[in-house]
Parts: sequence; C-alpha cells; structure tokens
Amino acid sequence: MKDKNQKLYNEARKIIPNGTMLFSKKPEIYLPGKWPTYYSKAKKAYVWDLEKKRYLDMYFGVGQNTLGYANFEVDTEVNKSNKNGNMCSLNSEQDVKLAKKLIKIHPWAGFARFAKSGGEANAVSIRYARAISKKDKIAICGYHGWHDWYLAANLKSKKKLNDHHIQELKVDGVPKALKNTVHPFRMNNFNDLKKIKKIKGLGVIKMEVYREKKPNIKFLKDIRKHCNKNNIVLIFDECTSGFRETFGGIHKKYKIYPDLLMLGKAMGNGYPITSILGRKKFINMVSNCFVSSTFWTEKSGAVAALKTIEIMQRDKTYKKIKNIGQKIKKIWQQLSTKHQLKIKIYGLDSIPCFQFLYKNHLAYKTFLTQEMLKNRILATTQIYISIAHEQKHLQNYKNKLDNIFKSISEFEKKNIPVNRFLESKISEVGFKRYTN
Ligand SMILES: Cc1ncc(COP(=O)(O)O)c(C=O)c1O
Repeated sequence: MKDKNQKLYNEARKIIPNGTMLFSKKPEIYLPGKWPTYYSKAKKAYVWDLEKKRYLDMYFGVGQNTLGYANFEVDTEVNKSNKNGNMCSLNSEQDVKLAKKLIKIHPWAGFARFAKSGGEANAVSIRYARAISKKDKIAICGYHGWHDWYLAANLKSKKKLNDHHIQELKVDGVPKALKNTVHPFRMNNFNDLKKIKKIKGLGVIKMEVYREKKPNIKFLKDIRKHCNKNNIVLIFDECTSGFRETFGGIHKKYKIYPDLLMLGKAMGNGYPITSILGRKKFINMVSNCFVSSTFWTEKSGAVAALKTIEIMQRDKTYKKIKNIGQKIKKIWQQLSTKHQLKIKIYGLDSIPCFQFLYKNHLAYKTFLTQEMLKNRILATTQIYISIAHEQKHLQNYKNKLDNIFKSISEFEKKNIPVNRFLESKISEVGFKRYTN
C-alpha cells in the first residue's frame, strides 16, 4: 500500500507539469518513489510528512531557513503584523525600512527594490543593467533563475549551461530571437574570461560570488576592472550565498563590490522576499524601466526580513552556521578516512557538499538517502546549514553515516553491486552545483 505522500505525488504528476513548483523539490532527485515529498509540519530542525512521520532534516532545502523552520521570533512578528492586514490600497512602511537597512549593511549601494523570488530579482537586475549600460549582451557564471534572458544561453547549444545549472537542459518556449545574447563563463577560468572580454556589445556581467568553488580574488578583481573600463554593469547574484557567512553579501569578505546585488532566501527565513540593491549613481538611469508587481507590495516578506536581519545581526548567526558547516565537513573527512572511502568535499562551509569519487556515485548517493530515511533523517550529499542544527543532531547524523560509509566501503572493496541493496531507482541528477 502506497503511503499518503507517494499517492499525492502520483496525483500531482497528472495535473501539475513536472509535479512540483521547484525543481529541487522533485522527489526523483533524492529517492524515487520513497522520498516523503510533502510536509504537514516543520519546526526547528524537524519536518513531519503527511503520515505524520518526523524526520531530522539534514538537507534543509533550499537554504531559506537559516534560523530554523517556523522560527518563533520571526513568525510572531509576521503574525502580529498580518493581524493588521497584509495588503491594501497603500504601501507598507516596511518597504522603506528594509531598503534603509540593506543600504546601511551595503554602504556602496544607494537604492533597493524588492521582489518575491530570486529569479524575479535577477530579471529586474538584467532590465536595470541593460538600461544602465545601453548594451544588451550578457555574460553569466552561475544559476540565476528560470527566466528567458538566462535560459537563452542554451539556444546555441544545449550544453552551454552544463557547468552552471542542469545537464543538457532543454529550453522549449524560450524565444529563438534571444540566441547569442547570453554567454556563460566558468568560475576562476581566465581563458573563458578572455573570450568574454572580446564579445562586442557586452553590457552586463552577472555572477554568483561563490558556488562550489572559492573565488580567485585575482579573477574577481580582473572582472571588476574590466567592467569599470568598458561601461559594463557588474552584478553579483547572492540569492543563495547572502547572509550565510557574512552579515549581508559574501562579496564583503573579498572587498570587491558590484554595481547591482541580489539577495534572497536567508533574508526572510522562509517568507518570500528578495532584493535588488544598486549604486546611487544609477537610480535615475533605471527610472524608465517598468518593473512592477502586485504581490511585491505584500507585507509579510519585508516584515520577516526586518526581524530576520535583526536576529542575524544580534546572534551573529552567519558565524554559527559557518562553524556548524565546518563540523559537518570534519565528520565527512573523519568517516571517509576511517572507511577508506574516496570523497571530494567542497562548497561553502555554510552549504557543505561532498561527492563519492566512484563510477557508481549516484547509486551510492541514493543508498545514503535510503538508509538515512530508514533512520528518519532527510539527507543527501549537501546540507544547507541552519542554526537549528544542534550538536545532538550532528552526533545522530554522524552515527548513522558511520554505518552507511562502512557499507559503501565494503561494496567497493568486495565489488558488491550496490543495486542489490537499493529499494528504488537510482536518483536523478540535480543541479550541477549540488552534484558537481
Ligand atoms: C544564485 C541564485 N540565483 C537565483 C536563484 C533563483 O531563486 P528562486 O528559486 O527564488 O527564483 C537561486 C535559487 O537557487 C540561486 O541560487
């Protein structure tokens, strides 16, 4: 008998294209036919599925709840504010308060706009950047959402976004007229950069500051210099990296500043709010860009962000998260050494990832998720760390992982096919960033 979660997902696939709203919440990329998929409750580090089974969440997808699920302080503030109406004919004062706060945190910036999703904020920034530079062509490094302007990169070849997004992503519905408007380059790859510099009409360089690879400072400086010299708008997309390891964007650590900056996810601890910050000198240049949306004026995101930012500043949560992530990396290091398993550990300390360095790596990842799930732990090979991850959770996770690594090590040493122990199909490949 299928449980409620699997039954609902089977129904969903018949009436919802692709089954879920977010690619990274597709159960097939974790444990096909077994991943719980739906939740009935989430609190601190725990998630309950539709069968009311409780899981320790050692994945915490996809990085929006750094203060833990249903954070009491943030929720109290939002609920209190919602009692007075979350929308009406007028604007909320929180928009202005949040703009002031973000500009204070990023003194190079002089204006802020808000949206509800990272993809939207990125689309706004591209509109702004094209208006500022008066040039249309864009170079990108990283994932920047689902909009036409970004996916157009794959119109030339379905492999163009392979190093940034999903392998051989099909881009049906993206206008062919956008071909050759977007040019990907790889992080820290000076050869790619050389090619980008030669593109005629390049007006925008947009990049994630830190993906799986730490940025080479020379690389960032070189880009900044090239943008300054050639009237190119430099955009840092920190929808995911923002507020995780610094109070604001991670670029603060490298002291290299963009012209436009995207922040999102962690900023509202789960409430929808993203922002576009920009240099003051550009404010008049973007005033003829029509960007406007009803629900960008909905109040809960800004209310949540103000409270979340207050807590992050007060408790220095970005330091705590980094510290917990370092402990996780140490667990992986210790256990892989103990069991003589070859793994590669990478990613931000606050979003640690690892990969099994074997031909069977996807099958081993599937096995890990399967065995963790039996122990009521949601886990894959990446963790979006939250302050809700306490020492007792790390210890529990370590104990279970010890046994799993031991089994995988035996599979390798004794040439035992892991498929014999898999109770589902092998998981599908997720984002490049997550599988490396
Ligand atoms: C760097 C970056 N930009 C943009 C996005 C898109 O954000 P959203 O899913 O909120 O549209 C993401 C989401 O993972 C991201 O990591």
